[in-house]
Amino acid sequence: MIKFECDYSKIISEAELSERIRQTGHFAWLAQRSSKGGWVDWPVNYNASEFERIKQAAEKIRSNSDYLVCVGVGGSYLGFRAVVEALGGERGRTKLIFAGNSFSARDLNKILNQIKDSDFSVNIISKSGTTMETAIAFRFLRQRLIERYGAEEATKRIYVTTDDESVLQQEIAGNHYESFAIPHNIGGRFSVLTPVGMLPMAVAGIDVDQLLKGAEKEREAIIYTGGNATKYAVIRNALLERGFNVEVLANFEPSFKYFAEWWKQLFGESEGKDGKGIFPASVIYSTDLHSLGQYMQDGQRIVFETFVESEKIEADDVVIPIAVSDVDELNYLAGRKLDEVKHTVAQATREAHEAGGVPVMRIIMPDISEYSVGALIYFFEMACALSAFTLGVNPFNQPGVDDYKVKTFHLLGKPGYN
Ligand code: PA5
Repeated sequence: MIKFECDYSKIISEAELSERIRQTGHFAWLAQRSSKGGWVDWPVNYNASEFERIKQAAEKIRSNSDYLVCVGVGGSYLGFRAVVEALGGERGRTKLIFAGNSFSARDLNKILNQIKDSDFSVNIISKSGTTMETAIAFRFLRQRLIERYGAEEATKRIYVTTDDESVLQQEIAGNHYESFAIPHNIGGRFSVLTPVGMLPMAVAGIDVDQLLKGAEKEREAIIYTGGNATKYAVIRNALLERGFNVEVLANFEPSFKYFAEWWKQLFGESEGKDGKGIFPASVIYSTDLHSLGQYMQDGQRIVFETFVESEKIEADDVVIPIAVSDVDELNYLAGRKLDEVKHTVAQATREAHEAGGVPVMRIIMPDISEYSVGALIYFFEMACALSAFTLGVNPFNQPGVDDYKVKTFHLLGKPGYN
């Protein structure tokens, strides 16, 4: 189970915390009953036969492709990139490339150059099928596949992950692409454990069964006892009420950069509406201790910090060597593991920031494994839904993201948008 630590005595009384946790209890059921609540039971209700088909497709891609180009954005991209990177990257021949997540011609050219002389397959991932940057990138990549392999083989190298009602169903039917379903009752940012993430993660060599097992275990903890996700959801709202408007997710592992990106999308799109919501930001320490560390320690007191940490000391073989000349005065550390030093710096950072007036929470995994990362994903999904309900907003819609799209269509001259 994911552990949670916070000295909340200065934020909320024990009695108030218990009462709020009690009130939050029914939100889990509310989430489950919502038209977009399919993710709640997904770790136990997932489509097992489709899951097998995904594993077979992944094996095929691993045997015939140097690259799988994953074309998608937002919830159709961030989660699986987060998992693959947090777990140390691809294992095996096939590397993932991420396309369709910007309008950058430079970025697209770089990708097209990268795959130029290589074998590759394409997975377009889009719940709606209408997301513009994704659809544009797919046009280029499909054309490239046809040029390289001919129309028939190209068709066999395209995998489509989409909703049953999306416009991409016409492409699937017309071209006989292999396809996987994004369940209608699961929204983009809650979909990482569905086929959205499962195919790319399986191609990357991630043990997707263990990911689901971790999520299943965390679901049990939350559904039956409220778990720590509820406590976290309640305390972050109590902090917001006391003027702490910004939550910074802090991590000491650079490979967690995309996990933080996924987390920001999850909370930002779920809570930032109706003029409400905590602004989600992130730092990767110690790198950011040399940039944002100053603000965290000494800036406006509107920020609270949530550290995501692993309990385990990793990499037994990375031990600090002794040096003949001790000019850096570090010989007192010789023989100690670098990861141990990292844990100590994390503790010192937490204590210093807390002393400087930053409320600090800790979310702790036993280790960095598929099982633990699966549990962490479920922990944050549930915490996010509970927190949004506590705040009084619907976690599952995103009414604000269409405004710029309508303006874009108008400016680009899309028919019907004059
Ligand atoms: O969480 C969400 O719903 C969004 O971030 C979507 O995932 C994102 O906009 C991509 O949408 P689609 O999968 O329809 O291309």
